[in-house]
Amino acid sequence: MADYDVIVIGAGPGGYVCAIRCAQLGLKTAVVEGRETLGGTCLNVGCIPSKALLHATHMLHESEHNFAAMGLKGKSPSVDWKQMLAYKDDVIAQNTKGIEFLFKKNKIDWLKGWGSIPGAGKVKVGDDTHSAKHIVIATGSASSSLPGVEVDEKIVVTSTGALELGKIPKSMVVIGGGVIGLEMGSVYARLGAAVTVVEYLDRIIPGNDDEIARTFLKLLKKQGLDFILGAAVQSVEALKTKAKVTYKLRKDDSEHQLDADCVLVATGRKPFTDGLGLEALGVEISKRGQVQTDAHWQTSVKGVYAIGDCIDGPMLAHKAEDEGMAMAEVIAGQAGHVNYGVIPGVIYTHPEVASVGETEETLKEQGRAYKVGKFSFMGNGRAKAVFAGDGFVKILADKETDRILGAHIIGPAAGDLIHEICVAMEFGAAAEDIARTCHAHPTYSEAVREAALACGDGAIHA
Ligand code: NAI
Repeated sequence: MADYDVIVIGAGPGGYVCAIRCAQLGLKTAVVEGRETLGGTCLNVGCIPSKALLHATHMLHESEHNFAAMGLKGKSPSVDWKQMLAYKDDVIAQNTKGIEFLFKKNKIDWLKGWGSIPGAGKVKVGDDTHSAKHIVIATGSASSSLPGVEVDEKIVVTSTGALELGKIPKSMVVIGGGVIGLEMGSVYARLGAAVTVVEYLDRIIPGNDDEIARTFLKLLKKQGLDFILGAAVQSVEALKTKAKVTYKLRKDDSEHQLDADCVLVATGRKPFTDGLGLEALGVEISKRGQVQTDAHWQTSVKGVYAIGDCIDGPMLAHKAEDEGMAMAEVIAGQAGHVNYGVIPGVIYTHPEVASVGETEETLKEQGRAYKVGKFSFMGNGRAKAVFAGDGFVKILADKETDRILGAHIIGPAAGDLIHEICVAMEFGAAAEDIARTCHAHPTYSEAVREAALACGDGAIHA
């Protein structure tokens, strides 16, 4: 008899959700986690702490820019950086302790330490070896390195160091105009740092709808962030209190340098599977370091599965969570399924950026006939009342059938609004289905309905 039905390695959103669902389905479950606290990158050094800092600095921004216009006069708050970090740490603790509580509630054993898989059905943690019928690898990802750049997490930092800088830098160079670079760049720009984003491509947030990316770039520039696009970073030299960034402009190969108090390296993440012993076990790994799985997340070794950032697909907590739930169902003999066509992506800046499904660019590539319904938040009464009229909703629908193929939103609460469209897409809805649904007034969600109306006879407030 095996010690457990399932041992999950890694307690991030993929792993802990998988474990909870396994326990709910009656499987005896343990989770291996080497960190002091549960929740993985997301809760400890990713999604959750960054949202705390984004919230605090957004409040500061509001007080500096919009309070006076609303008749709220007086000095705007000064920043107590230590307290802001303490608030962020408290938010982390509340969340990680919450997972510990859920583990106890569901009778999941936490095997503390870093795990490895010495053979099929076996997991080693420290000196102990445990047996399990099923092993799920959910070990996540780590920041990828850049040749010529050495990270010290003090002056040259990844997202982890950027969440606990000793002091607010006067200047910051962000390498990479992706999600992490723009979220953390926004935080420090709001705190008064001169932020310059150096991006390899001629655009920001690659993979997102091009029109959204252009609007986003304009709005971020208005907020004071500087951008150097089409620039490949060659090296970063850390000096005592500063760093020197050398980059080459791709258009003419000319070399330039920038000095900054802090350099954030945000050029992507890579699967993290160190120390698991996967090679010796015979688990197939791709050239990019991703664990190879079949359609039901089983690796090349029977009974060993993998989910989340360490396999193919977008490196998003909610994608890992969905795989975690479906994985548990598969192990329990049910039909676990993830609809990879409807996985939203959100950037938690201000305004927020959210997307799901196809972009205009991918539809053009596929040669599909589509129509576009767009609506600006300038025509939304609620958004105008709270200084949030920048941005728009864009719905892409099949030209013939009106079926929704994708949606892209830049504007207030975009990360929440997008889910109305996700649900609609799950049900195979047409734009007209949203257009004919009564939306409460005054809400931001009316902008989604107006964009859906714009796919048909036209929006009302445009
Ligand atoms: P990313 O892939 O979003 O962006 C990296 C950017 O760096 C790209 O625009 C790329 O062109 C650029 N780049 C690469 N090499 C460069 C060089 N040598 N010089 C200049 N630019 C260079 O990666 P990021 O922002 O590091 O995020 C990592 C992962 O974490 C992503 O998969 C992201 O989805 C996820 N994440 C998601 C969040 C969310 O859902 N809100 C928040 C934070 C991270």
